[in-house]
Parts: sequence; C-alpha cells; structure tokens
Amino acid sequence: MKVLVIGSGGREHALAWALARSDDVEQVFVAPGNAGTLSEAKCTNVAIGVGDFDDQINLCKKHGIELTVVGPEDPLVNGVREHFDNAGLKCFAPTSLAAQLEGSKQFAKKFMQRHGIPTAEFIATTELDEAVAHIESHGAPIVVKANGLAAGKGVIVAQTKSEAIEAATAMLSEERFGAAGHEIVIEDFLEGEEASFIVIADGKTALPFASSQDHKPVFDGGRGPNTGGMGAYSPAPVVSDAVQEKIMTQVINPTIAGMRAEGMPFQGFLYAGLMVGRDQAVKVVEFNCRFGDPEAQPVLFRMQSDLARLCLAAINIDLTGKELKFDDRKAIGVVLASGGYPNAYETGYAISGLDRSLPGSKIFHAGTSQRESQVETAGGRVLCVVGADGDFVQARQTVYSVVEGIEFKDRHYRTDIGYRALERLGA
Ligand code: AMP
Ligand code: GLY
Repeated sequence: MKVLVIGSGGREHALAWALARSDDVEQVFVAPGNAGTLSEAKCTNVAIGVGDFDDQINLCKKHGIELTVVGPEDPLVNGVREHFDNAGLKCFAPTSLAAQLEGSKQFAKKFMQRHGIPTAEFIATTELDEAVAHIESHGAPIVVKANGLAAGKGVIVAQTKSEAIEAATAMLSEERFGAAGHEIVIEDFLEGEEASFIVIADGKTALPFASSQDHKPVFDGGRGPNTGGMGAYSPAPVVSDAVQEKIMTQVINPTIAGMRAEGMPFQGFLYAGLMVGRDQAVKVVEFNCRFGDPEAQPVLFRMQSDLARLCLAAINIDLTGKELKFDDRKAIGVVLASGGYPNAYETGYAISGLDRSLPGSKIFHAGTSQRESQVETAGGRVLCVVGADGDFVQARQTVYSVVEGIEFKDRHYRTDIGYRALERLGA
C-alpha cells in the first residue's frame, strides 16, 4: 500500500517513519516533508503544500495512494477530510465539524459543559466590558484564550488582573490575534501537573497511545515564553493506571460518545491536554484534533503496533477489540531550536552531527531542508532527538549525548527534558 502524510514538522517525520515500518506499506509520500523525511527509508517528499488539497488528491489518484494521514490542525479545520471524501479517497482525519474541538475553544468548552466533562469554569464572550467585569470580580490568576487557532500563542496565563485585562483588550479590541481573537474564553487557573493523552478514534471507539508530557516554556525550569513544545517524554508517570482509567471514563469516552450523539463523530487522533491535580482529579485544559508535536516523536518511537493498519481500521470504524502496544522503554525527546525561537529567528544554517545517532536513539527532523549535500535549518524547531532506554536516567544520557554532538549556529535546547519523571525517581 502507498500512503501520504500531510505536513512538514517533527510530528510528520515521526508519523512517516512509523507508517513506513508497516510491512503493508511500500511507499510513504510526504507533502511537503523535510530533510528527514527525504532520507527516510521508503519515504518520498513531494512539493505540495499542506493546504493544497486538490494537488494532494491528484497525487493520490496518480500513484494509487490508499491512505492519507494528516499531521497539523490547519488542514483539518479547513476541511481536508471532506475534500478527500468527495474524491472517494481514504483520509484518516476528523471532519472540519469534529475539528472544532481544537479550532474553537468556546465550542470545546460548551461541548464539555453539555457532556459533564471536567474542565475549568469559564465564560466565552465577544464583549470587552463583560470580559473586564468578569476578570475584576474573579481575580487572578486567570487564563485568557483567543477562541480560534493562534499557533499556540493565543493563551495568556495571567498572574494579575491587569495582565488579564491587557490580554483581553489586545484580543478583543486591538486585533492582536486577528479573527481568532474576536471571541475569547476566560477560564479559571488550574493547578497541578500537565499530561498529554492521545487516542486514535474511529468515531465510536478510542484506543489510547502511551501517555506523554510536553515542555512548553522555552527555558529550563519552565521559564520564558511558551513554544510549540521544547521536548516531551513518554510515559508520563503522573498518568498512573488509576489516572488513565479516569481519563478514559471521564474524558475520552464521553467525548467520543458526545461527538457521535451530536452528529459529528470524531475519527482521527484526539489529543486531550490535561491537568492532573494533587488529589488526582483530571481536568481538560484543551483538546487538539491531531497528534501532539513533539509528543509524537517519543510516543511513536515506543510503538510496537502497526500504525498504517490502525489508521485503516479507524477509517473502517473497526477499532473495537483492538489494542495499541508500546515497548517498556522510557523515551525522552529533546527539541533543538533556532536562536531566538519562539520569537524571530534566522534560517539557512548548516547542521552537522546528524550522522551521530546512537543505538536506542533517533534524530527526527522538523524545520530542516536539504540543499545539495548539506542539511540546513529551515524553521524554529529544527530537530527532535529521541533517546529510549530501560529507565529515564539512561534515556536522558542517550538523548543528550546525541544532542550535544549536533551543531548549528545559535542552536538552543532545554537541558532538563523529563525532569518531572526524574524527580519522581529521585534522580
Ligand atoms: P493551550 O494552548 O490551551 O494548551 O494552553 C497553553 C498552555 O497554557 C497549557 O499547556 C497550560 O500550560 C496553560 N494553560 C492553559 N489553560 C490553563 C488553565 N486553565 N490553567 C492553568 N494553565 C493553563
Ligand atoms: N505539544 C503540544 C501540541 O502539540 O499541541
């Protein structure tokens, strides 16, 4: 079978790598891909953009591609699934209606409210007066979110009332996030430890991937502005068996059932960003309608099941009774980013050390491109190196030995990925 992956980041390199491992898969096209997918076994890059649905469909028809897997959220919210359905092609992705779980925060919050899914108390509003009155009466800390997609930047965790009012004003009356900020959600601040919980869903049944935890702030110790994610590890010890059971019964299953009951069954990867309180209570921070990035890199690195078969089974509404298997290793993924990221950064710098992988590690590419024989930086997040071993201490040694051997101008990375898991071990 031939497969198409849509996207160009680290998540898409991991998806393409995982799909290519299937005995059923002879070739994986990646549109547009990066220098990592270019050199991956069985993989072929095609110069087609993430939003060019017609070109993607023509490619599938021309090459007899039987399965398309979508990485990022934009094409999902913009209806890639409907385009492929209309062309009679199989695309493993939620419809644009189902993708509202990520594309509209007020949709997600009201959906959770309707179905009794635990999440922070909130108001949704388009009016600055209402926003200010709510912030004044509620007090800080409080969280202000742009309703629409804002590339991970539309969330302000405000420590003071004035910070919250400033954020609401920037969104509602200063067009800071364009149309995405014309409506906002203001919600209570949740305390606890975050975890990423991702499932594959066929509209009726959801099967969990191994748990993981992301590191959003740019600097060690969780300092500095938020990024798309500076690293992730799997499994996340905070997701004990009891917590996982709670996540499935209180969050995932009611979400799948609720979306189905409301006539928009969710087929695709569903990502619940969760806060696990000290009392082990679980609350939803956000839903994403796709795999996490960089969570995909350590999670898929540990996966033993055949991803291509699972995606096809999900399209055929046939996940019931199946199971996802992961090896017992602990995996840590460290992102190497361009100098300046998540703010302005330069690209086009030569990358060295990409041949220095170690056993138990894998260098996934994100923002890279190939110029003649040289791999160059081409984005903010450039690479995600994954190391896996019997425990987190060894995994950390492996991953950082590879990371330290990779050089490009002004590169930076966090040195503490996995620290929460290591602290639990007393390491
Ligand atoms: P989001 O884009 O909704 O995932 O938010 C980005 C980050 O902001 C999350 O990963 C959390 O660290 C933080 N955050 C969002 N909502 C809340 C909340 N209600 N309480 C505490 N932190 C939050
Ligand atoms: N790593 C967070 C995300 O994929 O949204």
